Amino acid sequence: MAEQKTVTFIITRQDSPDSAPYDETFNVPYRKNMNVISGLMEIRKNPVNAKGEKTTPVAWDMNCLEEVCGACSMVINGVPRQSCAALVDELEQPVRLEPMSTFPVVRDLVIDRERMFDALKQVKAWIPIDGTYDLGPGPRMPEKKRQWAYELSKCMTCGVCLEACPNVNDKSNFIGPAPISQARLFNSHPTGEMNASERLEGLMEDGGLVGCGNSQNCVQVCPKGIPLTTSIAAMNRAATVQSFKNFFGSDNAH
Ligand code: SF4
Ligand code: FES
Repeated sequence: MAEQKTVTFIITRQDSPDSAPYDETFNVPYRKNMNVISGLMEIRKNPVNAKGEKTTPVAWDMNCLEEVCGACSMVINGVPRQSCAALVDELEQPVRLEPMSTFPVVRDLVIDRERMFDALKQVKAWIPIDGTYDLGPGPRMPEKKRQWAYELSKCMTCGVCLEACPNVNDKSNFIGPAPISQARLFNSHPTGEMNASERLEGLMEDGGLVGCGNSQNCVQVCPKGIPLTTSIAAMNRAATVQSFKNFFGSDNAH
């Protein structure tokens, strides 16, 4: 009988946020069209490492399984990406899985993306709606603009662009490309633009636009193809206009 084909995963594990990381190797049965998550599920079903020792199941995060929620991001063979969208057939073996280094590790491949949500708060990446009553339909956007905004709205806060950015690290508090692009999205919304200056103020704070070193890595790794460098350039221009307004004390300057 033909031997069962296997896939080898080398996984960086960490038992708790403060404990030291270590590598553990697993051989899991190969299945056609399997993705990295189905490999991790096999390990969870049968947590025995390549040495034949019983171990704890590997922890990872996931939700949508269709590259929409961003929860399953990890570094796969050195590249930050979504593990649900990573097909084993397209990966070199052994498959190396590591947690993203930009975020604190909770356990194994599970990281805490809180800094991204804090950054979205810093730039007020939402549209404030007053009251709990029905406000009726909002203003319509021209179709072309709607299509453009839809592209920016695809951001899933996955963190891959922060992981790829050399300026997001322990020594800087740069918020990273994603929240800057989200500020641009909400500033271009017909209702959201009323609070545009507040978002720009957030971007002009410590850790905001000044942190970008223009490495352009972000735009290459974003799985949603979001034009991050264009967004950063646009927000830089808008922030310059805003600082003139602040200096001359006029809200009416354009
Ligand atoms: S901009 Fe792209 S890479 Fe960055 S968090 Fe959003 S979806 Fe992920
Ligand atoms: S599980 Fe949602 S993006 Fe992978």
